[in-house]
Amino acid sequence: MAANKTMESPDNIDSTAGSGLVSTDLFSPYFSDSSVTIYHGDSRHIVPTLGGFDLLLTDPPYGIGDKWTTGEIVAKTGSSRLWGKGETWDDQPAPWWLMLAMMERCEKSIVWGGNYYPMPPSRCWLSWDKVQEFTGSDSEHAWTNMDKAARTFRMSRGAAHAQMKKVHPTEKPLKLIQWCIEQAGDVATILDPFAGSGTTGEAAKVLGKRAVLIEREEKYCEAAAKRLSQEMLIF
Ligand SMILES: C[S@@+](CC[C@H](N)C(=O)[O-])C[C@H]1O[C@@H](n2cnc3c(N)ncnc32)[C@H](O)[C@@H]1O
Repeated sequence: MAANKTMESPDNIDSTAGSGLVSTDLFSPYFSDSSVTIYHGDSRHIVPTLGGFDLLLTDPPYGIGDKWTTGEIVAKTGSSRLWGKGETWDDQPAPWWLMLAMMERCEKSIVWGGNYYPMPPSRCWLSWDKVQEFTGSDSEHAWTNMDKAARTFRMSRGAAHAQMKKVHPTEKPLKLIQWCIEQAGDVATILDPFAGSGTTGEAAKVLGKRAVLIEREEKYCEAAAKRLSQEMLIF
């Protein structure tokens, strides 16, 4: 899906002050349509060139990559796939300066795995209760800067997987990410600098929002572009 790789994206440059989605014009998008733009590259280089967004909704690496590559996850879950063998995408957490750079560009922030980072105190954590039937964590947690009550979304991994063909080892359920956008209230533009398979892009599209995604691994850019290119999004 590298066809759009060199495409310029004038539609993505909207310098309207305030809530405008201001994308970089220093990098060429890997994929772009009227609602989602994907950059294939390193967020450490791309985020500093971006303007402002209404919502940061992201799921950065947690720095627990060895658990994926040594087979610990396979042993615990009985999964038939050794996800991430030979991959390095989850070896290190994102640098703190990058987390700050992402957050300062966005009015609201929702950061999955915030419990792996030194986030400031927050009234509102969003949780995903996986209604576990087996070992592994019962829930995952997203830090937010929203001043509202904490909330929990309940969906088993089984139910989530029935709705999607998973292409990324830590792919989040589409319904969960849609729910996150709804929790943020009135937002039009979304940034996800650790996009993986593009779940945030698909959720944004389904809800009629605009999103900019960044992903370092080309195979996940390709998967994201493919799912966003489907004429009929299933939701
Ligand atoms: C936890 S996964 C995100 C999964 C995503 N929520 C989904 O539903 O598919 C984090 C992603 O961040 C990417 N990544 C890690 N460091 C990056 C960086 N510096 N710039 C861009 N992407 C990065 C990894 O390749 C990985 O795909």
